[in-house]
Amino acid sequence: MNSVPAQHARILSGMRPTGRLHLGHYHGVLKNWVELQHEYECFFFVADWHALTTLYDDPSSIPDSVMEMVIDWLAVGVNQGEAKIFIQSQVPEHAELHLLLSMITPLGWLERVPTYKDQQEKLKEKDLATYGFLGYPLLQAADILIYKAGLVPVGEDQVSHVEFTREVARRFNHIYGRETGFEEMAEQAIKKMGKKSAKLYNRYRKAYQEQGDQSALDAARALLDSQQNITVNDRDRLFGYLEGSGRVILPEPQPLLTKASKMPGLDGQKMSKSYGNTIALRDDPEVVEKSLRTMPTDTNRVRRTDPGDPDRCPVWQFHLVYSSDGVKTWVQEGCRSAGIGCVECKQPIIDAVLQELKPIQERAKSFEAQPDLVRSILAEGCEAARDMAQSTMVEVRHAMSMNYR
Ligand code: TRP
Ligand code: SF4
Repeated sequence: MNSVPAQHARILSGMRPTGRLHLGHYHGVLKNWVELQHEYECFFFVADWHALTTLYDDPSSIPDSVMEMVIDWLAVGVNQGEAKIFIQSQVPEHAELHLLLSMITPLGWLERVPTYKDQQEKLKEKDLATYGFLGYPLLQAADILIYKAGLVPVGEDQVSHVEFTREVARRFNHIYGRETGFEEMAEQAIKKMGKKSAKLYNRYRKAYQEQGDQSALDAARALLDSQQNITVNDRDRLFGYLEGSGRVILPEPQPLLTKASKMPGLDGQKMSKSYGNTIALRDDPEVVEKSLRTMPTDTNRVRRTDPGDPDRCPVWQFHLVYSSDGVKTWVQEGCRSAGIGCVECKQPIIDAVLQELKPIQERAKSFEAQPDLVRSILAEGCEAARDMAQSTMVEVRHAMSMNYR
């Protein structure tokens, strides 16, 4: 279905600027980014225009939030040598693609995106009956398609946006990928690959089209990816020709579902700033220690001599994230027999969290002290992102007859 083969995928993900991040972000998203950057070509960006869709009435906090968030990304090990890190609004091509895609996007598709009604209900006090808010999944589609990303790491709540992106890409390719003489041009392009590759391509294409052989399709795509001597347009044609459609100008991305983080908040609910139950990555060690010491435990365990039940205790959730099997057994047995007290039970958690945060906080301090370094990292990431975005826009403008001279 015109999607990019996973092993060659480029990865793109974005985050709204929310200021300083907490352990929920770290365990839920950032650790995953740090791993992915070693395996794939990664683009990670700050979705500042997305922030405007809900914060339009008071955007003054956005710039600080952006900087604080990027410092936390760098502090946990998102690395400018491995990933491109940039700010969405500094690559204005996203806006151009959003505009051009808006021409072909049916209103009903946007109204049916589940987050549209959900968020409006959640943020009732805000007027979100705006053009920008309705269009925000399309802006996200532009964010993804402009880099021809193959994989988009997202949480469950964002999968519908990636699905929507696939539909938009499919519609775009359907409308603009049909050129007169497509088959002849594709056949010409095959020849340009050289005898050996051409033969392989034809064999794979036949195996896929006649027997639906998926591995042949993957192999053909890998073959196309490795071709040095054909143009981008020819390559897009040959991707499309594999499946008999038209030219694939914007490939369809796949969601890369991030497993829900087990990281609970201090009260056992999901860790979130709006619940006031967070441990921020840059909280002082004394604050971290105090937050953990005062966090609630099994409410049925009133006295030290009462036995408790870890299943009713948020501290146990922390043990699941941080503790070895040995410690976990110690908690289970000690709690249920009133053999250990809650203060004792929390100590290994306090140690583990402080140990986890220590190197992060050291790196954060160093970036805080060098704002110019952070700015130059962003500038460099932005430049690389723009290069790629501009080259996609050349193709898109051409496909939509918006290339003059
Ligand atoms: N909408 C995402 C969120 O609210 C952020 C985002 C914007 C994004 N553009 C993106 C995520 C592109 C992945 C890919 O969390
Ligand atoms: Fe919770 Fe540990 Fe106290 Fe049991 S001993 S109630 S698991 S803090």
